[in-house]
Amino acid sequence: MKISIIGAGNVGAMLAERILAKNLADVVLVDIVADLAKAKAYDLMDAAPIMGYKNRIRGTEDYKETEGSDIIVITAGLPRRPVMSRDDLIEKNKKIVGHILENTAGFSANAIFVIVTNPLDLLTWFAHKRTKCGRKKIIGMAGNLDTARFKTLLSEELSVPYDLIETFVLGSHGDTMVPLVSRTTVDGKPLTGVLDEKHIKEIVERTKKRGGEIVSLLKSGSAYFSPSAACYEILEAIINDMRKVIPSSCVLEGEYGISDCALGVPAQIGAGGILRILEWELPKDELDSLKNSAKAVKDMLKKCN
Ligand code: APR
Repeated sequence: MKISIIGAGNVGAMLAERILAKNLADVVLVDIVADLAKAKAYDLMDAAPIMGYKNRIRGTEDYKETEGSDIIVITAGLPRRPVMSRDDLIEKNKKIVGHILENTAGFSANAIFVIVTNPLDLLTWFAHKRTKCGRKKIIGMAGNLDTARFKTLLSEELSVPYDLIETFVLGSHGDTMVPLVSRTTVDGKPLTGVLDEKHIKEIVERTKKRGGEIVSLLKSGSAYFSPSAACYEILEAIINDMRKVIPSSCVLEGEYGISDCALGVPAQIGAGGILRILEWELPKDELDSLKNSAKAVKDMLKKCN
């Protein structure tokens, strides 16, 4: 299997390392900056004899080398800086993603696209509009990252290992995301039975701002260890046909009463991409929040045409 990663920055390079470390696939790393991808690929290859990587990695500026990719991951674009929201990146990152879609189009007719560049839901929708591969092959990474963040914060608050926590975060990868408290259990018990409302609200709010918290602490750039891990989970599910339910940004055509945008929903992912979108019955307040999140994404889509 062949995965092309476009953007050899923090997320792209870390993702390449994760793929090689798990012997998941061959990697082509592409960046617009001359020699950057090549340098990182050489550096990663030099680690192979020590780490035991079995696959190959190549770094290049030439899209021809992406030919025949099974998956194309787009991580190219500007990351956030402090006081920026993800939506502030739209104009520049839309141009970058558009350029990449044009350049990869002729080389990998059957590729599945995984979008990582922010603002994630908008660019997932944009990629759907710009490609002809159909919505099953366009996956936006973020719901599993937001879920992992919610889990981490709950695990800290409750001093419970995170593998005893079941939860999902849906909605947009932004301030209107929807941590599903109704579906959150801790060691099999409903979250509402082990934590009071005030604390739950605080953790939900902190989850929404977790990416921004990291951006403020880093001062330049944004998170990349957890985004690359979340992206890896999607790639592994596709390549190993795991049919795993992963909250991901998907193009919606009426699911949850929402259409004409991409939004985080539970998606079963396997070979071929999105196998199906699960439509869970949600309590009214969570369904309303999900619709509100869709509205925020659509308002933003309107603003940027
Ligand atoms: N083609 C290929 N690569 C490009 C292009 C392009 N047109 N434009 C920019 N790049 C490359 C940059 O040269 C840089 O190496 O994309 C890379 C981005 O890397 P970083 O600046 O380190 O950003 P990173 O932290 O990896 O985040 C990338 O993922 O999580 C999101 O919000 C984040 O949108 C951002 C993206």
